[in-house]
Amino acid sequence: HGTSKINDQGHLEIGGVDATKLVAEYGSPLYVYDEALIRTRCREFVEAFQASGFKYQVAYASKAFCVMAMCRIVSEEGMSLDVVSDGELYTALQAGFPAERIHFHGNNKTPEEIAMAIDAKIGCFVVDNFIELHLLNEIASEKRQKVKILLRITPGVEAHTHEYISTGQMDSKFGFDLGNGSALRAVQESIQLSHIELLGVHSHIGSQIFEVEGFYIAAEKVAGFAVQVRQELGFTFKVINLGGGFGIRYVEGDTPLSVAAYVKAITDAIKINFTKNDYPLPEIWVEPGRSIVGDAGTTLYTVGTTKEIPGVRKYVAVDGGMTDNPRPALYEAVYEAMLANRATEAPEELVSIAGKCCESGDMLIWDLKLPQVKAGDVLAVSCTGAYNYSMASNYNRIRRPAVVFVKDGQSDLVVKRESYADIVGNDVVPARMNQVS
Ligand code: LLP
Repeated sequence: HGTSKINDQGHLEIGGVDATKLVAEYGSPLYVYDEALIRTRCREFVEAFQASGFKYQVAYASKAFCVMAMCRIVSEEGMSLDVVSDGELYTALQAGFPAERIHFHGNNKTPEEIAMAIDAKIGCFVVDNFIELHLLNEIASEKRQKVKILLRITPGVEAHTHEYISTGQMDSKFGFDLGNGSALRAVQESIQLSHIELLGVHSHIGSQIFEVEGFYIAAEKVAGFAVQVRQELGFTFKVINLGGGFGIRYVEGDTPLSVAAYVKAITDAIKINFTKNDYPLPEIWVEPGRSIVGDAGTTLYTVGTTKEIPGVRKYVAVDGGMTDNPRPALYEAVYEAMLANRATEAPEELVSIAGKCCESGDMLIWDLKLPQVKAGDVLAVSCTGAYNYSMASNYNRIRRPAVVFVKDGQSDLVVKRESYADIVGNDVVPARMNQVS
């Protein structure tokens, strides 16, 4: 997919660059992003919204992959950006991302984060709870600023996805509940607060969602709520944000819609439910993360040791693992992979790909068909662009890999591989331990 292909040497090539050359130049493990594919995904969202006739904002959910070069691409593509922490906000600002197009999420923004975001003059806060609402008003008032907000509501929709990434159901740590009246009270209080300008509401039902049904139901609940607010409080929402969650194809059998089809489903859902209720059509905002970067990312590893348990299984270990991709261990996520240096060879054996961390759960792929694998082979795991680098850790004090963007035969380093100095960079040895006995 994207610009990936097999070249004349029988090697995997991404963005016109031979994967084995990338490993030779930058080392492994290595995250490789197909820049053209990221931009294609961005444009698919933007063009589909343009075709819908709605006013819109497409905010890339930076939690999926947040580095300065990525913020640049999002900015160049004319999109907005969703951040959830001071770190993501800082990254965006350092990249020169236009502050007025930044939306700030999160269920426990600290006073420092709120102050930082107000000072930066970001475009919108997505307020999660009453404590935050009043804290935000207080800090904004001290700074003599009026801040724009959306209220995050919990629509009570269960998305069919992994429990940890499903967020729209009632028993969730996020948002104001529709059912028990707290969402209505939040609107009432927001309207009265002097330094708050309420734009509308936000709902995010979960992640890696294939069916559009959940988005329809969420739109229906949000529209019902909007009507209730209009009748009871005389207030009209200008913006409806339906969050992210659009699924991608990781392995055969995954059946996501195209980006255009997701956008059409969302815009139709809003159109149907708002016009049905005689409600003026709002602006639609969405927050795709995974569907922007997921399939554009490939992780390259070098194969090291193997262990064969006759009649049971063959383990093939690579030089990374749960430190660069914790998703299999966390969510039982599945991936496809191939040998980048022997891409034309037919599969001969069934192997399981292990990482190098000191625990049994550090497995990347179970039961993968590959040609006879040997040490030094380059394994390419596809669709690792979302929630891999962003969730990477230094467990076992493994250095986080480098990230490169490839495009038109050129590769550019966008994140350096961590150094040993980085590993101990924040360590402090108390002076009393300095004596040598
Ligand atoms: N908006 C909000 C409010 C969110 O919480 C999320 C994701 C998104 C947008 C973007 O969702 P996406 O389009 O990427 O599905 N670490 C997990 C995914 C956690 C998603 C958290 N929120 C994983 O690796 O699958």
